[in-house]
Amino acid sequence: LDNGLALTPPLGWMSWQRFRCITDCVNYPNDCISDQLFRDTADRMAEDGYLEAGYEYLIIDDCWLANERDSDGRLQPNADRFPNGIKDLADYIHSKGLKFGIYEDIGTNTCAGYPGINGQYEIDANTFAEWGVDYIKVDGCYEDTEGMEDKYAQFGDYLNQTERPIVYSCSFPAYKGLEANYTAAVEICNLWRNYGDIQDQWDDVKNIANWFATNQGFLNKFAGPGHWNDPDMLIIGDYGLSYDESIAQMTIWTVMAAPLLMSVDLRKIEPEFRDILLNSDALSINQDVLGIPGLLAWNNGNVRIWTKPILPQVDDKHSYAFGIVNYENGGSPHVVEFTLDEFGLDNADGYTIKNVFEPSDPVTVSVTEPIRISVNPSGAALLQVNPVAPSHATSLL
Ligand code: DGJ
Repeated sequence: LDNGLALTPPLGWMSWQRFRCITDCVNYPNDCISDQLFRDTADRMAEDGYLEAGYEYLIIDDCWLANERDSDGRLQPNADRFPNGIKDLADYIHSKGLKFGIYEDIGTNTCAGYPGINGQYEIDANTFAEWGVDYIKVDGCYEDTEGMEDKYAQFGDYLNQTERPIVYSCSFPAYKGLEANYTAAVEICNLWRNYGDIQDQWDDVKNIANWFATNQGFLNKFAGPGHWNDPDMLIIGDYGLSYDESIAQMTIWTVMAAPLLMSVDLRKIEPEFRDILLNSDALSINQDVLGIPGLLAWNNGNVRIWTKPILPQVDDKHSYAFGIVNYENGGSPHVVEFTLDEFGLDNADGYTIKNVFEPSDPVTVSVTEPIRISVNPSGAALLQVNPVAPSHATSLL
């Protein structure tokens, strides 16, 4: 969507994967979808380095709504869990320097059964703009898949008419599969879910990565500045991924140029997981302004390598990110060996290589020199590979 937004993949936090549809604040006082959860999360994002690192959108997913619209037909939040209303919460989030995102559904109901937008496009777009919404995820439950693109387009038109800059996240590709009109998605949406939900487990990281890699020839051409494929939230710091699996998810999502939407309890996250999320080299690769999604370029079953062209460039030679993932689940690390020319890199003066999650001084290699790197089982290495500029020795003789 050409609205000047999401020129790099959106970075933020979204409630669904970790906090789901918990509405029982008696038994789950810290986990329920409530004003307090989002204020606490805003505090953590602003004070613990996430906002500074670029994670700017705080997005409420499903289960914030009351069961009915108000007497004027407007959407309203559950009054017990959001006693101050949404505008007040949005103001708080904005006061922390963050942007505010919310969730709705194009059909009669949200997936959890709350009132959907269902044709009330104009009034709802205006409500969201009045509340100060900066990002909206519109789900696709309880709606015919036939003609879904038109409905998303109509709601998008009303969002545009509000003149408030609002990132528009669509879902029709996830509901229609690869028959969805992806050309329309690029025009209508800033990002879109393509595939099923992530659950809190490594199998889902692999399954999602495999699906995107299998379909990369089709999908990658639709991603770029302003319009992104969305493989779903990061589950780093939750219950399901080990430290190495977390590095692997961060690596794969980074090289895919995926939106990085954390879904974790930021009040409780352990420091080693926080450090993965805040890794500045990984974030700068993900946020590279060229916005080129990486390709799975090498697959020998156990070891898979994605490559993503990034800046800086030396003459016509790009830098690259290499995401090397070890799918083995045996007990020991695997030494992966390759040369850069096997991946088509051909800068005559070679490249410097930085191992993003194992920082040490960068090494310099020619394109034919073997690179050996040890990758842990169910783990990954993310490399930043920069072309060396020719040395312009000038002789005055
Ligand atoms: C389905 C979506 O794919 C999830 O990310 C989440 O938004 C749920 N619906 C909410 O009901």
